[in-house]
This record gives sequence, C-alpha cells and structure tokens, in this order.
Amino acid sequence: MKTRITELFGIKYPIILSGMSWISMPELVAAVSNAGGLGILATGVMTAEETLEAIRKTRTLTKKPFGANVTLYFPGAERNAEVIIKEKVPVVNYALGKGDWICKAVHEYGGKVIATVTTLKHALAAQRDGADAIIVTGHEAAGHGGAVTSLVLIPSIADELKIPIIAAGGFADGRGLASALILGADGIAMGTRFMNSVESPVHESQKAKANETDVYSTLYTDKVDGLMARVMKTEGAIRLTKKWLNPFSALIRSKKIAQMLGFPWLKLAIAILFMGYKRSMQMARMAIGFDAFYAGTMEGDNKKGVLPIGQVAGIMHETLTVKQIIDRTVKEAKQAYEKLGTKLK
Ligand SMILES: Cc1cc2nc3c(=O)[nH]c(=O)nc-3n(C[C@H](O)[C@H](O)[C@H](O)COP(=O)(O)O)c2cc1C
Repeated sequence: MKTRITELFGIKYPIILSGMSWISMPELVAAVSNAGGLGILATGVMTAEETLEAIRKTRTLTKKPFGANVTLYFPGAERNAEVIIKEKVPVVNYALGKGDWICKAVHEYGGKVIATVTTLKHALAAQRDGADAIIVTGHEAAGHGGAVTSLVLIPSIADELKIPIIAAGGFADGRGLASALILGADGIAMGTRFMNSVESPVHESQKAKANETDVYSTLYTDKVDGLMARVMKTEGAIRLTKKWLNPFSALIRSKKIAQMLGFPWLKLAIAILFMGYKRSMQMARMAIGFDAFYAGTMEGDNKKGVLPIGQVAGIMHETLTVKQIIDRTVKEAKQAYEKLGTKLK
C-alpha cells in the first residue's frame, strides 16, 4: 500500500496504533510496527524516567519506525517531550496543546511530527506550527473524540489542509480503512481495535466484554476526566456522571496526579490556585479520571473503574493478534475497493 502516510513514515501500511495510557506500551507498540503499521507509545501517565525506559525497551523489540505521544495538557508533559526528543524517537505525536517547539526540535534530528486534533481550527494551527501530519479524531472514538462524526469531520478538514490526515474514531477493519481513504485521509489510527488484541495488556475480562458490546454501549460525558470523553456504559461510569465535587477537591486530589507523573506537588497546587474555578474543577475530575481509567483498564473493574471504548466495539466480536488485525484490514480494504469498482460501473 502506498499513501502519503506510508511514504512519510517509511511504513508498509497506513495503519497506526493510537496512544492509550497503560495499553500502548512497548510490546503492543512493537507488535504494530513489526506488522507493518506504526505503533505509538503512550507516555501520558508516565514519569520522565518511565518514558525513557519505555522508549529503550521498544527499541529492543522492533527495528521498525515507531512513535511516542505526549499530552501537553498534563502536568509534566514537557519533561516527557524532552526525553522523547533527546532519544530521537522517529515520530512524535502531541495532543491538547501548542506544539510548535516540538516540531522545531524533532525536525532538527530528522523526525516527523503528528498533531492530534478534533477541529478544523486546531488542524490549521497544527499545520502552521509545522506538524507533518495530523490525527483527526471523530465523535465515535474512545476517549476524547470531537463533537462531529468522522464521516463529516474527515472530508471537512481534508478540503482545507495540505498535510496528510490520519482518520481516527470508528475504524476497526478494512471497510473502515477504504472509507477513510475515500473521505480524504491517508491512513487510519485505531484504539479500540488494538485494545482488544492478544498483545494488549488490558484486563482480559474487558476484552471479553468488548466482544459482547453493541454500538449503543458507550457514554459520552465530561464527568469522568473533565473533558468530553467516550467510555463503556458501566455502573462505574454512570456513578461518575452523578458525582458532585467540592471546589477544594482539585487541591486534595492533585497530590496523586503529581506523584504519578513525578511532578512537584507544591508547584502543581500553586498552579491550581491560579487556574480559576472552571479549570481547577477540571483538574479534580482529571484526578478522578486517572484512578477510574486505571481500575477499568488494568484491573477490569467496572464498578469503580471506567474503560474508554469506541462505538466501533459494537462491530468487532473477536480478540485477534495484531498481525491478524493488520493483515485482515489490508485484505478487506482491497476487497472493498474492488467491490466498489463493480458497484460504480
Ligand atoms: C482503552 C483505551 C484507552 C485510551 N486511552 C487514551 C489516553 O490515555 N489518552 C488519549 O489521548 N486517548 C486515549 N484513547 C483514545 C485513543 O487514543 C484514540 O483516540 C481512539 O481510541 C480512536 O478511536 P477508536 O477507539 O474508535 O479507534 C484510549 C482509547 C482506548 C480504547
């Protein structure tokens, strides 16, 4: 397969592993890169030391190109970005922040940059800031998808942008890949599909649950981590949507975030005091979200925990190896293209 994305990153197929905290770890990243796609390491919940270790481990598992992501909204994210840059990771993916300095530093060593966005405004800003490609995340996606569905969002951005687009949100098979290419994208990124793979470290009970869900089994809410996010509709998720927070809870809960990210708590606490009410309540929700996502993802706990999952879980009913997922997606996309040719005659 040859698209602007395969050419840009030197990969065989235009299929990317989305960054998923605790899941897009070295083993899964390497499995995707070794199967011809591009694995992206998720560093969002890692300290700078853990990020360095994960990059080095990935390098022992694959000789193919891979990426690492950084969520600029999180405290301490800059330090992770600095490690990623120092280690000259071939592809750097940033989200939720301004990445002009990342583009400049990565280009200096010959790396490539992907910005993740959900709107045309942010897509144009990323292009201006020097990103080589963007991931556009539609409403169907697990986690922080935008307000508009991929079917409309992808062409609306493709019409306005020069750099290539990777479509995310609602893609899990070859029909999806073929459709994304027709809509104007040059590749797809998949989260939910790879989360439910043999190599994924997500709790086995969640893979089994994902195989049984239908397309109506998700919630889209800002009550889990303070940003609009799609998660599995479970007892834990419904409970969080009803949880009331007092204005000081951000300060109390920030200690845990600081600990997890290796960030000085005093610095974070002072920053929260200056954030104003709305943003500090968002931080409080983020702290709750971290705990809930960990319990849902790694402990399979759907009472206290929450699992991000996309609507697309409803059209996939098997846990497959990464290689099976990628080979099948490529084969089905080619078949879909041939079928379309016949229908359009
Ligand atoms: C289990 C799971 C965990 C995720 N964790 C994160 C995360 O930590 N940070 C993030 O920005 N996106 C996260 N995502 C969202 C993905 O990066 C991606 O945007 C999304 O999965 C794409 O849509 P899809 O699920 O329809 O493929 C997660 C997705 C899943 C399924």
